[in-house]
Amino acid sequence: MTKLGVNIDHVATIRNARGESHPDPFFVAKNAIKFGADSITIHLREDRRHINENDLKIISKKKFPLNLEMAANSKMLKIALKYKPNYVCIVPEKRQELTTEGGLNLKKNKKKIKHAVQKLNNSKIRTSLFINPSINDIKMAYEIGSDCVEIHTGKISNLIKAKKNFKKEFLKIKKCAIFAKSLNLKVHAGHGLDYKTTKTLNQIKQITEYNIGHFIIGESIQHGLKKVIKKFIKILKK
Ligand code: PXP
Repeated sequence: MTKLGVNIDHVATIRNARGESHPDPFFVAKNAIKFGADSITIHLREDRRHINENDLKIISKKKFPLNLEMAANSKMLKIALKYKPNYVCIVPEKRQELTTEGGLNLKKNKKKIKHAVQKLNNSKIRTSLFINPSINDIKMAYEIGSDCVEIHTGKISNLIKAKKNFKKEFLKIKKCAIFAKSLNLKVHAGHGLDYKTTKTLNQIKQITEYNIGHFIIGESIQHGLKKVIKKFIKILKK
């Protein structure tokens, strides 16, 4: 079965809005696994806007598969080698962006990324590169020696959500997934996914893992409200 990785960054976003300890990303991570997720993803950003190093420290003592998203710089590499998550997904990172807006520029950063991948591979950490759906990028990911590629699904997600024609983008992703698989690269996908976009992409059987964050946390807030309000009403009745 296709695997589901749950990105819990935005639990930390809500926690950090108050600078306190609720909600707790580790608690949510444990429950996500308990309810059937295959792995937990966290992105330790340079500006620490959501997940921080202490979260990584706690979550990496896990009893579940952890996927760390990080930029390919020496500081982050040192942190990854210290905490040894099961998987690392190398992503581009710009300070001003709201989220990871696109895939890696492998052509420009090949040497740096290859160095990081080699170090991580030597530490038996599975590596993935977050890329746009591009045959050239898949060739480069193969040359770099990554175990997996994660295809950025932001564009197709936006097209589907805006009810626009997404066929061209879908076929592009499918072609990339087939090509990557033929090179023995594992194919993952993520960014901007909701129920509908995931259902559409899940027709591409070469994609074996989806990493989903914002929508899962958002939906959990919307649909978890009933239980919480009921609990308060019970307290206030006494
Ligand atoms: N995969 C990668 C590599 C990402 O950088 C992100 C965003 O942090 C996601 C998946 C999840 O995206 P979203 O939060 O839009 O589901």
